[in-house]
Amino acid sequence: VRQLVKQRRPPGFPPGPSPIPVIGNIFSLATEPHVFLKKQSEVHGQIFSLDLGGILTVVLNGYDCIRECLYNQGEVFADRPSLPLFKKMTKMGGLLNHKYGRGWIEHRKLACNSFRYFGSGQRLFERKISEECMFFVDAMDEHKGKPFNPKHLVTNAVSNITNLIIFGQRFTYDDHNFQHMIELFSENVELAVSGWALLYNAFPWIEYLPFGKHQKLFRNAAEVVAQAPRHYVDAYLDELEQSAGDPGTSYSRENLIFSVGELIIAGTETTTNTLRWAMLYLALYPNIQERVHGEIDSVLANGRAPSLEDKQRMPYVEAVLHEVLRFCNIVPLGIFRATSQDAHVNGYTIPKGTMVITNLYSVHFDEKYWKDPGVFSPQRFLDSNGNFVRREAFLPFSLGRRQCLGEQLARMEMFLFFTTMLQRFHLQFPLGTVPTVTPKLGMTLQPMPYSICAIRRQQTR
Ligand code: HEM
Repeated sequence: VRQLVKQRRPPGFPPGPSPIPVIGNIFSLATEPHVFLKKQSEVHGQIFSLDLGGILTVVLNGYDCIRECLYNQGEVFADRPSLPLFKKMTKMGGLLNHKYGRGWIEHRKLACNSFRYFGSGQRLFERKISEECMFFVDAMDEHKGKPFNPKHLVTNAVSNITNLIIFGQRFTYDDHNFQHMIELFSENVELAVSGWALLYNAFPWIEYLPFGKHQKLFRNAAEVVAQAPRHYVDAYLDELEQSAGDPGTSYSRENLIFSVGELIIAGTETTTNTLRWAMLYLALYPNIQERVHGEIDSVLANGRAPSLEDKQRMPYVEAVLHEVLRFCNIVPLGIFRATSQDAHVNGYTIPKGTMVITNLYSVHFDEKYWKDPGVFSPQRFLDSNGNFVRREAFLPFSLGRRQCLGEQLARMEMFLFFTTMLQRFHLQFPLGTVPTVTPKLGMTLQPMPYSICAIRRQQTR
């Protein structure tokens, strides 16, 4: 009965598909939820509601609606939902899941400062990324043009950039302890939006069921906390020490561990997936790859290593990376938000504390802003003179108060890894194979495992 009472939409609440009693619309999210939700928005409007087993949820679709909420009403939509799963995993602390307020501000500021101070704001840091790029292409070379699955290598290389900022060091590609930790994180990113996770949010008592994927999620999280890295950000420890007498402080050893875990996984999974999709699409479209090779060779005379300064002279490379981010929708539904106060949008009223899903996929496939959105075409980011053009309805890093804080770092990494790799290699699939482009579902979209051959090019070192 409690569930049925909770299900009723409050007055002025956006409409939505009819829920099945008790479980609501949970199982309609089982396959490609972002596509399903966009289709629903064509029926119910850009802003509509869902019932996730008694948890009333608002879904935002299309560029106009998402901009109105996340940007024009930035503060109102800046919270995270107090879902049982998040409460259990990070006690609504850390950084990514922190409730909107002082604790979030403290953690976000500290992370942004650290990123600026130890990372993307520093010229020396570019050299460190370039060094990692070299380790990366050398490790690819070890396969001598034979087929291999690039997932682990890309993950290790990308996570090392975040590691440099967080721990001040990189891990070698055969460090199994670290790899194991990344695997646990990665598995949890997948499990976090599984049907079992959604069920757990609606019915936390299923914790006591001995089966179900949510159990695996809890076991993974416990294992990560148990082997928390020793060399933690000194900056955090300084703050912790300085705030010792302040009863309102959010700095704690626990929040330190949560936020480190979040930074590693938020930075690794996303950037890795982008690069893996980029490799897949380049092998799939040899004409696009040829144009990338041509641009790299003409800008990087005599095979010199790329630097960030070269970016503005490589509009085609930029266009390809942007099209991968648009088309592949690395974080298709963003990270769940919540209203921090009562909200009024498009004539609807959304009470404080309502869970909000931002369908970023629907922005990248918004027919009002994109012609033939279902076609992979880097050309759409170029003008008639071949110059790179920014497009408005492009939000892979989301928007507003909670927008991705690693965007700058991710852009640096993607450009340097991508150009270094394509400068040295021609990518192709093993003879007679073409991998599927259907994504593996989870909080992030990644390609299904595929094998690729990295053939050394003649032109370069
Ligand atoms: C949040 C995308 C790389 C750290 C987000 C969000 C998206 C996103 C969509 C959700 C924002 C919201 O709530 O609306 C991406 C993509 C990346 C990337 C596509 C790479 C291609 C990174 C990197 C880092 C990072 C490299 C750091 C190492 C974070 C953090 C948040 C976040 C900490 C939570 C921010 C908050 O709650 O205040 N990212 N991200 N991301 N990202 Fe990224």
